[in-house]
Amino acid sequence: MKTLKSKNKIVDVRYDIRRKIGSGGIATVYKARDRVLNKDVALKKIHDKYAENKNFIEMFKREAVNTARLEHENIVRVVNFIEEDESYYIVMDYVDGVDLDYLIKRCRVLDISIPPLVAFHIIGEVVKALDYAHKLKDKNTGRYLNIVHRDVSPGNIMLYYDGRVKLADFGIVQMGRKRVKNRKIAGKVSYMSPEQARGGSVDLRADLFCCGLILYELITGKKVYAGNSNMEKWEKAKKVEIDYELLQQRCKSRYLRAIIKRLLKENPAARYQSAVELFIDLKRYFMKYGGYEDIKKEYKNFLKLSLTKELSDAGKREGQNEIDKRFHEESTNINNPVKYKRKLAAKGGEKEEEESAVDAVLDASILIALILIFLILL
Ligand SMILES: Nc1ncnc2c1ncn2[C@@H]1O[C@H](COP(=O)(O)OP(=O)(O)O)[C@@H](O)[C@H]1O
Ligand SMILES: [Mg+2]
Repeated sequence: MKTLKSKNKIVDVRYDIRRKIGSGGIATVYKARDRVLNKDVALKKIHDKYAENKNFIEMFKREAVNTARLEHENIVRVVNFIEEDESYYIVMDYVDGVDLDYLIKRCRVLDISIPPLVAFHIIGEVVKALDYAHKLKDKNTGRYLNIVHRDVSPGNIMLYYDGRVKLADFGIVQMGRKRVKNRKIAGKVSYMSPEQARGGSVDLRADLFCCGLILYELITGKKVYAGNSNMEKWEKAKKVEIDYELLQQRCKSRYLRAIIKRLLKENPAARYQSAVELFIDLKRYFMKYGGYEDIKKEYKNFLKLSLTKELSDAGKREGQNEIDKRFHEESTNINNPVKYKRKLAAKGGEKEEEESAVDAVLDASILIALILIFLILL
């Protein structure tokens, strides 16, 4: 591979680094311009301390290659892996948006809660990605690849400004996680399944547990495992210490609480056994709100409310017309968070009905049965 000194911050003769986006446990992410395809990409540069470890890099590379097989509308694509000057980069699609962690923090600052419909929609999109990845088979052998994400957390759930939701970093943190066994707890202790926290082996049900942790946080506004230190959170994660009273206070729908509780069962055998099983229950809830497009519209309205500044900055970067076009179909009266909060309260939007979607379906069936009996008797 031809090397070019990164004086002009050009990697692999092709990727022109524009700015640093952020830094995580394993790597620093940059926005870069792909000079061949003439589009933006995200370059993930592995921290130097990991780059020195040959075993780590080999495993990392293998993971990157595996991840590059994943092609799904809810997964951030990996498009390249580069070694240059003893530095290692993963090239990914650039996400024009923010991650869910950012949205959570933004909502905290604005003092608005995330409506259950929005929370479940986001997780619903993540579940579609998980379903695809968990079930992926090797094209040659036909065997399941047993792909597990291992780090389903708000920082890896990417929210595009145009309303798409994608999961990033499949399998990439696996090696970072292994360090937990050595008591070097790095990263996201708050988003660990008990089996992960105890250093045991994990399967797809660990990913579903993490969806439960995120849903709990989105709905209650509090992380499941809070504490002053990583050690404290880690202990709670190992014991699955969950405050269900808080969930009860913040989530009035028995049906939604039941979904979250089932996701957060300590024993993997008591949880949903597959992403699709969970998705079926989510769909029952979504049915109450009409079609997918209606729900997405609600979600985009909420993004517009909570990310007003970011959207307007993105608008300035791209030309306001583009942003206006994206949101043209949405109502315009939610620009003001206070007004929106009042509107939600008036609609009872923040209060979920006690009645579950399933209950509603059952009620309808009973009604139909009664009408039939009545007709027969006539
Ligand atoms: N493909 C991408 N496009 C745009 N931003 C990204 C992309 N991948 C990661 N980021 C952002 O870069 C920052 C660091 O990401 P990462 O190293 O994956 O951190 P973490 O360990 O928290 O997942 C985060 O703010 C994340 O939102
Ligand atoms: Mg990440």
